[in-house]
Amino acid sequence: MIFDEIGQYLTQTARLAGYDETMNVTFSNMPKICDFQCNDCFSLAKKYGENPFEIAQNIVNSIKNKEDFVFEAVRPGFINIKMTDKKMSEIGNEYLKDERGGVPMHEHSQRVIMDYGGANVAKALHVGHLRSPIIGESLKRLYKFLGDKVIADAHLGDWGLQMGLTELQLYLDGYLDYYFKGDKKEPNITLEMLNEAYPKASARKNEDEYFKAQADEWTLKIQSKEEPYYTIYKKIREVSVKEIKKHYSELGAEFDLWYGESDAQEYIDKAIKIIEDKGLARVSDGALVVDVAVEGENVPIPKTRDDEVQRYKNPMPPAIIKKYNGGVLYATTDIATILMRNEMFNNPDRIEYIVDLRQKNHFVQVFRVCKMSGISPENQILLHIGNGTMNGKDGKPFKTRSGETIKLEDIIEMLVEKAGEKLKSNGVEYSRDLALKIGVGAMKFGDLINNVDKDYVFDLDKFMSFEGKTGPYLQYTAVRINSILAKTGMAKGEFFVSNEEEREIIRNILKVNSAYELCYRNKTLSPLCLAIYNLASAFSTFYNNYNVVNEKDEKLKQSYIALLMLVKNKLAQALNVLAIEIPQKM
Ligand code: ARG
Repeated sequence: MIFDEIGQYLTQTARLAGYDETMNVTFSNMPKICDFQCNDCFSLAKKYGENPFEIAQNIVNSIKNKEDFVFEAVRPGFINIKMTDKKMSEIGNEYLKDERGGVPMHEHSQRVIMDYGGANVAKALHVGHLRSPIIGESLKRLYKFLGDKVIADAHLGDWGLQMGLTELQLYLDGYLDYYFKGDKKEPNITLEMLNEAYPKASARKNEDEYFKAQADEWTLKIQSKEEPYYTIYKKIREVSVKEIKKHYSELGAEFDLWYGESDAQEYIDKAIKIIEDKGLARVSDGALVVDVAVEGENVPIPKTRDDEVQRYKNPMPPAIIKKYNGGVLYATTDIATILMRNEMFNNPDRIEYIVDLRQKNHFVQVFRVCKMSGISPENQILLHIGNGTMNGKDGKPFKTRSGETIKLEDIIEMLVEKAGEKLKSNGVEYSRDLALKIGVGAMKFGDLINNVDKDYVFDLDKFMSFEGKTGPYLQYTAVRINSILAKTGMAKGEFFVSNEEEREIIRNILKVNSAYELCYRNKTLSPLCLAIYNLASAFSTFYNNYNVVNEKDEKLKQSYIALLMLVKNKLAQALNVLAIEIPQKM
């Protein structure tokens, strides 16, 4: 990156001037005065007992023939660095030709498995499942863009009690007579049946102990592949997965693997044996547990129903890997899944989970068991990237007016409707597909601009605004540039800097380029969202002040067009990483 280059140069120069220290360069806080700055003379002043301004002067005086930059020592001890117009122009042309637009690839590519999605089969997807595919998809695209080899796994929840509950309810409702009584025709299990059966059964299990016990039994029968339970399960899974795939595709989440918890079952015995052979397991109240506590740790107790957070000196509880009745748990499945992934994909460098922050303790337990037992090799990174919740305006997890959790399907329809209204009021003829792109884009940007671990408020009006830090504003900027380019044609000449607004655009392009690495390091998309917003507004300022289409000076006009193409490319590149589509029109 450009400031690394200047930093290295300054480090050498400082050495010539007698100061042995790495000099770092950052973007300037005062772009009117300079493009970059170096603040390291203050620490040098402490080290060498000299005045920081004099040090800055000494270093600047030692600079010889660095022609693309102008260096200036300023009080009380900064080095200001301005890039020449010539260098800015060169950068613009270089990025325009480079298909990566000047974003370097990592030298060492890592093999990564990403676990995001986590939808549960037979249950309707709800708002709690929204952030994981949004964040996961973008992080995946970012990693790939920077050179990692990534496999995305949807890791469906397809092996739990919800299966027994749903199947039992369908049976009680008379839909499964064909399988159990041999009469009627083979039923066509539909989504509507499932959407009705699960909530009904789920409510009943809390009041009816006998029903709950029966559902447990049905679950066990499915898990031991007993017929006809297992065949019916497979049908339920199929119908449900089809629906899940539809929703993920509307959200733009693409998976390489559609494995579920059920796929890890054949690795469970092996995983438990590895753990037992290491002497890590002990029996407690009939269950098999692994102690994972670390001395002196203080684990916060998860939020209670009343949303109070209790904290006290409290070690991590043991991981339960087998229930008293021999059943396996969520932790067991995740441990077995890590074993499966390591065997199938030859110990990837990283396995990352984008899952609700509230599952933190679960992942700590799972990861510790895998590390202690060697199921995960020492040098493998296991990482839980915990996301905060999407809240309503009351600051609590988003609910319907009547207090129920909102189905993902309903959220998507809300987005489509709102985007449709906007398009209509702008006089644009539109299809559902267009409204979907804009609605989902708005939602995603409203999510990704926040740090992953923070909660945020779902504010549809704000997200959908065509102005400000929003998805539609960025989409609109790209659409607008496309339509100008459709009029002018592509640039037939080189770009050269001719005004301050263009310098501001180039500076912002450099910032966008450096945002990728920041996002990679911090596992968040927020810096990229902010950087492209700033680029789009720098573009708007330029475009308001200069008449590109009617510029008489042909050379200047072509330079403007080249700049438009450059901005468009940078926006498109970033929106692609964010998995936000650019519509045809808006
Ligand atoms: N199905 C889970 C849930 O709804 C999420 C799965 C997350 N991934 C994982 N490997 N545990 O809570």
